[in-house]
Amino acid sequence: MSIILEHLTKRYDGHPVVNNVSLEVGDGEFFVLLGSSGSGKTTILSLIAGLTHTDEGRILLHGRDVTYLPTQQRKVGFVFQNFNLLSRTSALENVELPLLYAGVSAQERHRRAREALERVGLGDRIHHHPNQMSGGQQQRVAVARALVMRPRLIVADEPTGNLDSRTSIEIMALFQDLGRSGITLLLVTHEPDIARYASRVVLMRDGRIQADQRQTAMLAQVPPVSAEETPS
Ligand SMILES: Nc1ncnc2c1ncn2[C@@H]1O[C@H](COP(=O)(O)OP(=O)(O)OP(=O)(O)O)[C@@H](O)[C@H]1O
Ligand SMILES: [Mg+2]
Repeated sequence: MSIILEHLTKRYDGHPVVNNVSLEVGDGEFFVLLGSSGSGKTTILSLIAGLTHTDEGRILLHGRDVTYLPTQQRKVGFVFQNFNLLSRTSALENVELPLLYAGVSAQERHRRAREALERVGLGDRIHHHPNQMSGGQQQRVAVARALVMRPRLIVADEPTGNLDSRTSIEIMALFQDLGRSGITLLLVTHEPDIARYASRVVLMRDGRIQADQRQTAMLAQVPPVSAEETPS
């Protein structure tokens, strides 16, 4: 899904935290917003996803003006730093939840949730609870929960923020994989190392775009665990 931002501005207490931002993202791009704390990354993501209302400017998703549409009508999937899973509910039920809200039948919910969990490599753990899973596995469940609604855009806010570097690479490999399947990905991070896995990096500073760079994405390759690193 393509994204167009036209002169987007958002103010808090009269102060612009997103300041006249214009940007075009093509369908299927894997693009990162990189910037230091307070630069406005989360705010831009919230504006695109419809979690925050826009003060000025327009947002077009797939050519449609969504500036004043509620989040449910934007067909955007979310992934957060803290996973936001129900810890004592199985992975399967966590992933089914958005379908439940959407009124999908039990049988169909089950089928689609299982399929989404298989897609993120958790087909053998669908009955595990998040509190029985590693951080990386929990983030995979969260990605499956975003995927289950079949969005054409997934936005992820610091999705590797709570993960060690090895697991972060694993999650970036998963995002790259989703990117290859045609989903547009917008990922927010303050870590340049994470931004290297995307095909485009937009650098934010004080609510403005400071640089916009296409790059050859580094391929995420998860190194094998050596014997010394294996926790005893
Ligand atoms: N709901 C709010 N009310 C008032 N100010 C806010 C609100 N949300 C964000 N801000 C302010 O807007 C600015 C940008 O915040 P934002 O969360 O977008 O930054 P960020 O780039 O995501 O930072 P971080 O890397 O720390 O997550 C900050 O100065 C922040 O204090
Ligand atoms: Mg943020």
